Amino acid sequence: MVETGAGRLHQRRGAAAFVAAKKTLLAAAWVVGFALVFLWQSASISLRSGGARGGSGSGGVLLGLLSAPLPPPRPAPRLRPAAYNLTDFGGVGDGRALNTGAFERAVKAISALAERGGGQLNVPPGRWLTAPFNLTSHMTLFLAEGTEILGIPDEKYWPLMPALPSYGYGRERKGPRFGSLIHGQNLRDVVITGHNGSINGQGEVWWMKHRRRMLNNTRPPLVQLMWSKDIIVANITLRNSPFWHFHPYDCTNVTVSNVTILSPVSGAPNTDGIDPDSCQDVLIENCYISVGDDAIAVKSGWDQYGTAYGRPSSNISIRNVTARSLVSAGISIGSEMSGGVANVTVENVRIWESRRGVRIKTATGRGGYIHNISYRNITFDNVRAGIVIKVDYNEHADDGYDRNAFPDITSISFKEIHGRGVRVPVRAHGSDVIPIKDISFQDMSVGISYKKKHIFQCSYVEGRVIGSVFPKPCENLDVYNEQGQLVKRAVSLNSTELDYDI
Ligand SMILES: *[C@@H]1O[C@H](CO)[C@@H](O)[C@H](O)[C@H]1NC(C)=O
Ligand SMILES: *[C@@H]1O[C@H](CO)[C@@H](O)[C@H](O)[C@H]1NC(C)=O
Ligand SMILES: *[C@@H]1O[C@H](CO)[C@@H](O)[C@H](O)[C@H]1NC(C)=O
Ligand SMILES: *[C@@H]1O[C@H](CO)[C@@H](O)[C@H](O)[C@H]1NC(C)=O
Ligand SMILES: *[C@@H]1O[C@H](CO)[C@@H](O)[C@H](O)[C@H]1NC(C)=O
Ligand SMILES: *[C@@H]1O[C@H](CO)[C@@H](O)[C@H](O)[C@H]1NC(C)=O
Ligand SMILES: *[C@@H]1O[C@H](CO)[C@@H](O)[C@H](O)[C@H]1NC(C)=O
Ligand SMILES: *[C@@H]1O[C@H](CO)[C@@H](O)[C@H](O)[C@H]1NC(C)=O
Ligand SMILES: *[C@@H]1O[C@H](CO)[C@@H](O)[C@H](O)[C@H]1NC(C)=O
Ligand SMILES: *[C@@H]1O[C@H](CO)[C@@H](O)[C@H](O)[C@H]1NC(C)=O
Ligand SMILES: *[C@@H]1O[C@H](CO)[C@@H](O)[C@H](O)[C@H]1NC(C)=O
Ligand SMILES: *[C@@H]1O[C@H](CO)[C@@H](O)[C@H](O)[C@H]1NC(C)=O
Repeated sequence: MVETGAGRLHQRRGAAAFVAAKKTLLAAAWVVGFALVFLWQSASISLRSGGARGGSGSGGVLLGLLSAPLPPPRPAPRLRPAAYNLTDFGGVGDGRALNTGAFERAVKAISALAERGGGQLNVPPGRWLTAPFNLTSHMTLFLAEGTEILGIPDEKYWPLMPALPSYGYGRERKGPRFGSLIHGQNLRDVVITGHNGSINGQGEVWWMKHRRRMLNNTRPPLVQLMWSKDIIVANITLRNSPFWHFHPYDCTNVTVSNVTILSPVSGAPNTDGIDPDSCQDVLIENCYISVGDDAIAVKSGWDQYGTAYGRPSSNISIRNVTARSLVSAGISIGSEMSGGVANVTVENVRIWESRRGVRIKTATGRGGYIHNISYRNITFDNVRAGIVIKVDYNEHADDGYDRNAFPDITSISFKEIHGRGVRVPVRAHGSDVIPIKDISFQDMSVGISYKKKHIFQCSYVEGRVIGSVFPKPCENLDVYNEQGQLVKRAVSLNSTELDYDI
């Protein structure tokens, strides 16, 4: 944005030189020049403070009016047989008018086209304030460059919905929860894409009200699709969600590609990036995620409610993602996983400046399983704890959970794990009732930043290391050489010595 501003300034300087020939206009050119510098500065300040995105903010609009004609915006590609413009339905992108009706009329028009390949809704550059609205099947929502859909920060516009069946509870508060800004149930063939336009939940007011306990219901996600299939979210930016950013719930065949997700790394509670929950066949690739909680968390329901609902998350692939989480972790599994989580691959992932790199979290009462999870080519860059497995994440929906429901954790593999500036590379703590079985580490070199003995911590862990692993692995693991020959048997220590201060 600053670059664009500077570019426009250059054009303006060229124009000023031309005008200077007519001396009477020289003074006017000076005034315009100063005004431009002023507007450019105020636009950059509002950008830095996390406010309006440059070209679409009020400074940007004025700048646009004053400068030479801009190159026309990149035209939206035709992705469906029929395409509409939000302005066709009375949309006004001034950041003030409420566009809920315009979105609803557009979605209604598209829902009539299901038999004919559906329809595309182009949202042109501008700031489109709206209350929550629903999508429909066979729909493409296209966000142009410089487009921002803004959630209205006043909860009286947000409908309440029943608690998710596999949670039995609003997650933060008992009873109903707020529905998401962009919502859909029982849909198929939905695409949200664009030229990097954005959906902004304007979560600041929600975070503040949450901190001050002024909300009686669980905060809303930004985008939530439930019981749906064949979903693509690509080439856009999601930011400042009141709660989780993208929550596909009990969905099949979901692709998230080339999406940027941004919210403040602190003071934005529970703003997870992407939470596939009881979903099958999910691909998350080429994303940059920096948020106030887990960047990605694979889930499948909570305690007895998740067990009764009984829908696992499986066949989940996460690749080429850069993640940052100062509060929680880059890539998580759990803690709600009572429907089971299986067949997850995480590869070519970089996690930087974070509290934790990858984490599996669960607790007694969850039941379910975490099976066949493989991590490959993961890079940690300045994280406090690299790999964490925790089985006492004792957060429960209510007191009705089964004290004998122990999750089963089996077959977790780590390969090509590298990094620097990591305080505790591994902290894998099972327990006598929830042991960690068949864990393996191969080709690992993590530069540590903390000279203390507990740098590769294990308890109630069974498995192996293969070949070269740095730092020196815990003694609970069998040691194999590169050729697959056993070098040293595990010494089972199963100490429960915890070191949570780091
Ligand atoms: C949408 O309509 C607005 C206002 O009529 C127009 O400026 C814009 O170019 C249109 N965009 C597309 C993609 O048709
Ligand atoms: C949106 O969808 C939900 C769930 O299907 C429904 O309860 C709600 O009435 C819909 N809202 C509108 C405005 O159509
Ligand atoms: C990612 O999205 C941006 C903005 O829409 C686009 O320019 C770029 O080509 C996309 N990259 C990939 C790999 O799809
Ligand atoms: C998309 O926009 C976000 C936020 O403005 C920016 O950080 C990101 O680099 C952009 N992505 C592309 C591919 O231009
Ligand atoms: C929350 O509930 C309390 C007690 O029922 C009530 O006094 C308060 O007005 C409610 N707050 C909101 C924002 O609805
Ligand atoms: C998954 O969804 C995409 C996008 O709608 C579709 O092209 C593809 O055929 C679907 N895959 C399956 C196996 O149905
Ligand atoms: C995302 O952008 C890339 C690069 O422009 C394009 O090839 C791809 O089709 C886009 N994806 C969607 C779903 O629009
Ligand atoms: C796993 O999901 C991908 C889509 O992400 C799909 O192409 C593939 O067929 C699925 N594999 C299985 C075994 O179902
Ligand atoms: C990885 O994702 C980034 C966007 O975050 C993209 O620019 C890059 O091309 C992707 N790399 C590969 C190998 O796909
Ligand atoms: C995980 O994959 C294995 C092997 O393909 C398959 O047998 C198992 O059913 C899958 N698990 C789930 C929960 O889909
Ligand atoms: C490992 O992941 C990084 C991204 O973090 C990527 O640039 C690199 O090509 C990957 N290497 C391999 C061998 O896949
Ligand atoms: C330590 O825990 C592992 C995993 O549960 C188990 O296989 C092993 O028998 C335990 N060893 C001792 C000495 O208790």
